Amino acid sequence: MEVLDFISIGEILIQLNSLTPGPLRYARYFEVHVAGSEFNVLVALSKLGFRTGLITRIGNDEFGEMILRALRAENIDVSCVKVMDNAPTGVYFIQRHYPIPGKSTTFYYRHGSAASHMSEEDIQEDYIKNAKRVFLTGITPALSESCYSAVKKLRDLAQNLGKEVIFDTNIRLKLWKKPENARTKLLPLLQGSKIVFTNKEDLSILFPQSALEDVVSKLFQLGVDIVVVKLGEEGACVYTRNGEAYCEKAYRAPVIEDVIGAGDAFDAVFITSLLKGFSLREALKLANIAGMMVVTVRGDIEAQPDWKAIEVLKKYYEEKMDMLR
Ligand SMILES: Nc1ncnc2c1ncn2[C@@H]1O[C@H](COP(=O)(O)OP(=O)(O)OP(=O)(O)O)[C@@H](O)[C@H]1O
Ligand SMILES: [Mg+2]
Repeated sequence: MEVLDFISIGEILIQLNSLTPGPLRYARYFEVHVAGSEFNVLVALSKLGFRTGLITRIGNDEFGEMILRALRAENIDVSCVKVMDNAPTGVYFIQRHYPIPGKSTTFYYRHGSAASHMSEEDIQEDYIKNAKRVFLTGITPALSESCYSAVKKLRDLAQNLGKEVIFDTNIRLKLWKKPENARTKLLPLLQGSKIVFTNKEDLSILFPQSALEDVVSKLFQLGVDIVVVKLGEEGACVYTRNGEAYCEKAYRAPVIEDVIGAGDAFDAVFITSLLKGFSLREALKLANIAGMMVVTVRGDIEAQPDWKAIEVLKKYYEEKMDMLR
């Protein structure tokens, strides 16, 4: 078995993205994409040169076939992808620029999907032994009780085997129903993660009425080494256990098609930059570039950069800054 640099567990969905902005009641044309936060991150990491694999389930249907083809096309290991006869592949719709211009809203049709039936059975110790790092998000544990147990088993095994766990809180209240559910279930899972990616909304759910510096130190108390707070069009900040703290502004997107998926490309490029030996500040800048690129198109994976594209854009912005000096 080939060693995998990153593995993850999560649902891949068919994304139906409205071609026209505005409320979906008037939408007549939808564009089909394959997406899902953990999948998006693995696709981005795969484009950046890593070997990746996803634990998931898909329906024995046309959309499941579409997902399988996307996984293979993006060079993601499918040995832990299970095809289910009695549950469908999930779908979701994206409404763009309404009610908030420049923002998107999701509508899920995923309850009872094949992936929501994942359980501890889907977690094979050998698969984890064979992987270097595990990437997890707060989405999969919200899908069902059995998905929660699967994520917990994967995390516990990974940590017992001394593998790095990287976690994106990605709280989806439409799945958790109540903020308290997200808080009580997710906090224990964050324990011991090497990096936690999050944003201000998620932090206000996990640590209500707390100042940012208190929240960050609470995460360090949970054993987290690096906390990255993504701020959408504002950029992002990073905090480390040994007291480093930096913020970097986002890059201006020439057009905003659909902001969903920006955070996933951001995560992948931030992780890659650190592994390549870049400083925290440089990693933030490069991750901001990746996030900005993704908002310029519909779909979550299509505009994700490979390292060559990152270098081209880095140079482009450096030259632009020189011109302004
Ligand atoms: N409108 C935008 N213009 C430019 N860059 C953006 C924009 N939105 C996002 N980005 C970039 O992408 C990064 C990640 O976006 P965002 O903060 O929305 O991710 P997230 O917290 O993972 O969101 P989500 O709730 O979708 O999971 C930002 O830190 C920023 O660098
Ligand atoms: Mg996100």
